[in-house]
Amino acid sequence: MSEEKVNKRLSRRQFLKGAAVVTGAAVVSGSLLEACAPAAPTTPTKAPAAPSAATPATKAAVTPAAEVKPAAGPPLKIGVLLPYSKVYAVLGESITNGMVLYFESIGNTIAGRKIDLIKEDEENDAQASLRKTRKFIEQDKVDLMTGLVNSAIAYAVRDIVHDNKMILLISNAGANGLTREKKSPYIFRTSFSNWQPNYPMGDWVAKHTSKKVFCSAADYAAGKEMIAAFKETFVPAGGTVLGEIYPPLGNTDYGPYLAKIAEAKPEATYSFYSGSDAVAFVKQYEEYGLKKTAKLTGAGWLVEQDVLPAQGKAALGAISGLNWANTLDIPENKKFIEAYQKKFNVEPNSFAVQGFDTARVIHEAIEKTKGNTSDKDALIKALESVKFASPRGPFEFDPVTHNVIQNIYVREVKEVGGKLANVVIDTIKAVKDPGK
Ligand code: PHB
Repeated sequence: MSEEKVNKRLSRRQFLKGAAVVTGAAVVSGSLLEACAPAAPTTPTKAPAAPSAATPATKAAVTPAAEVKPAAGPPLKIGVLLPYSKVYAVLGESITNGMVLYFESIGNTIAGRKIDLIKEDEENDAQASLRKTRKFIEQDKVDLMTGLVNSAIAYAVRDIVHDNKMILLISNAGANGLTREKKSPYIFRTSFSNWQPNYPMGDWVAKHTSKKVFCSAADYAAGKEMIAAFKETFVPAGGTVLGEIYPPLGNTDYGPYLAKIAEAKPEATYSFYSGSDAVAFVKQYEEYGLKKTAKLTGAGWLVEQDVLPAQGKAALGAISGLNWANTLDIPENKKFIEAYQKKFNVEPNSFAVQGFDTARVIHEAIEKTKGNTSDKDALIKALESVKFASPRGPFEFDPVTHNVIQNIYVREVKEVGGKLANVVIDTIKAVKDPGK
């Protein structure tokens, strides 16, 4: 069968299954994101890996428009496992949008292979996610996998990914162990470890906000790891944790928990909640009256751009640490925000940045291997070498753990031009997870 026929058949099959197929037809027009697809090798999957130092990929997100060459190799199948329902639905959607924005900027083609995104819902369910990972490996035979928002689910799929030598680029889930004791040569993380934003915040909060803090977080791996990382520096800096409380993930009524927090009379609270949990917690925190006595601080997702519009003034003044801020004043960020808003008619958030960067990592690495994804060692080497200026600041992988090394920004929610925004008030540079 000709390669063109293979392309057509796969596209139609994916279409019938309802999976998302990104066609090469649509190219974003706009100064930032236009780029050319490099010349296609004739046999990309078989081609020996030949990483080159000067790859056109490094310039992809910034080079001027050029004609997109037709895809010549078989489709590049990328299994995308992200939440499209429940507590983290907006996170999954934002990561996907970021990927789509980047891939459109390169004509949806890498090394002559048309990009085929096969999307599955993480469903906030480990069993369902395991089943879908198996489907990517056995049925779809994807070239690589990306996604995962929930740390507990990331831990659950780790072994099947590793045992099958499936390249996985985690684009959110911060599960520390996946780049520490359970690290794998096949697993990379473009987002953060749960330790990364919280460890610097412990010291920062003790020195600048308060030494009497109550901690709270969603009751699962991510919440536990984040509060532990916060305490690692908060306590040595002279801080006292007055209490800790862990409501279930996907909670709606924080009343009983807020009552416990109020009883302890903290000067500040430090929390991890994200998605719909963050909206409910921050709104109820104000309704309960706690905002008047206890400064709201936490891991950045508590008041990130995805939840700020729903939280409104309840979020004003909140201090948080994260790997990005919408006010970050660097050209890469300004261009990203403009292009994202133009395409999706909504403000981006840190999840969208993670999706955008993940797509760039995939692009740059597979350009280096000239479209070859079957030589895993070559692909791993190519991934390890990816380094660029992201909308979040400098991006590079720690070659030992495969976790991203990045800046962490301390932000404060302020009103800027009539809108709520996370204003950068401090930067902790090049934070590297201590995994070995
Ligand atoms: C996680 O489960 O690792 C997680 C989920 C949502 C976030 C951050 C981390 O916003």
